This record gives sequence, C-alpha cells and structure tokens, in this order.
Amino acid sequence: MERTFIYLKPNAVRRGLVGEIIKRFEQRGIKIVALKLFWMTREQAEQLYEIHKGKDFYEELIEFVTGGPVVAMIVEAPRVIDMVRHIIGKTDPLKAGTGTIRGEFALTITKNLIHASDSLESYEREYKIFFNEEEIVNYFLDVQDDI
Ligand code: TYD
Repeated sequence: MERTFIYLKPNAVRRGLVGEIIKRFEQRGIKIVALKLFWMTREQAEQLYEIHKGKDFYEELIEFVTGGPVVAMIVEAPRVIDMVRHIIGKTDPLKAGTGTIRGEFALTITKNLIHASDSLESYEREYKIFFNEEEIVNYFLDVQDDI
C-alpha cells in the first residue's frame, strides 16, 4: 500500500468543493487515513513550496494558500501517488484533461484548487509539515478488497 499527501487550497474550501473533490477519491476506493481543516501558516507554506522560492509566482502562491483555511489529508491505495495526480489533472487547468478535478473546476495555474505529492520523496517530506504520526489512523476499508 502506498500513501500520498493532498490538500485542498483555500478557493476549493470557499467554493464549497470539498465534498465534490473528496467524493472523487472515495469513489475510486482510495482510503482517507488522516484529514483536517486548518489555516496554513506562512512557515508551512514556505516549507512546502521551498523549491519554488525566487520564482515569479512564489509570493502570489504563498499569499494565496495562506489566505484561507485548507483541507489536508493523507490517503492510501495501491499506486495512489500517480492515481491521485491522474484524478487531479495537470498543473495548468488548460492542460488538465476533461473529467479531472482541475480540468473541470479550475481556471488559473495558481488557483488550481488542489495539491498532491508528485513522488514518494515528496510525500515523505510534505506530510510531515502538516501531520504527526498519531494523526494517521489505521483501519480496514471494506471496498479495498474489491478494487
Ligand atoms: P508545481 O509543483 O509545479 O505543480 P503541482 O501543484 O501540479 O505539483 O507548482 C506548485 C504550485 O505553484 C502550483 O500548484 C501552482 C503554483 N504555480 C504557479 O502559480 N505558477 C506556475 O507557473 C507554476 C509552475 C506553479
């Protein structure tokens, strides 16, 4: 089993898309093992996006993701890192496929609604910025026997 880190950006929360987005993961049989709503601190945002520091979109991105509450989660399924990126769609909503979250609900790159780790290394680094080990819940999800 693989895990990945996801967070719904403030515009997803403000637009009332939390249920719609989580539904798409649940209906695939992806198991939520940690979930919370909180206001991301500037420190957390800077840590998460450290590789983008200095780029022209960096300040706008930090301001945006710290401008309202976010919903963060850790999810679990086979091949879940690539599967979640597939469900979300490409970074630029213009290039995100029809039927993907960004392809259906997003318009601009910065406000592309959702983040998900792009590799195992990213996941290992990113989830620790937002979650303690005690917040990750172990339980059995029936539907995963059938996917
Ligand atoms: P990136 O890690 O390249 O994309 P992804 O979120 O798909 O992993 O970029 C991180 C975030 O930075 C992206 O979700 C939105 C923002 N961003 C911009 O605002 N402008 C840009 O040109 C790029 C590449 C990213």
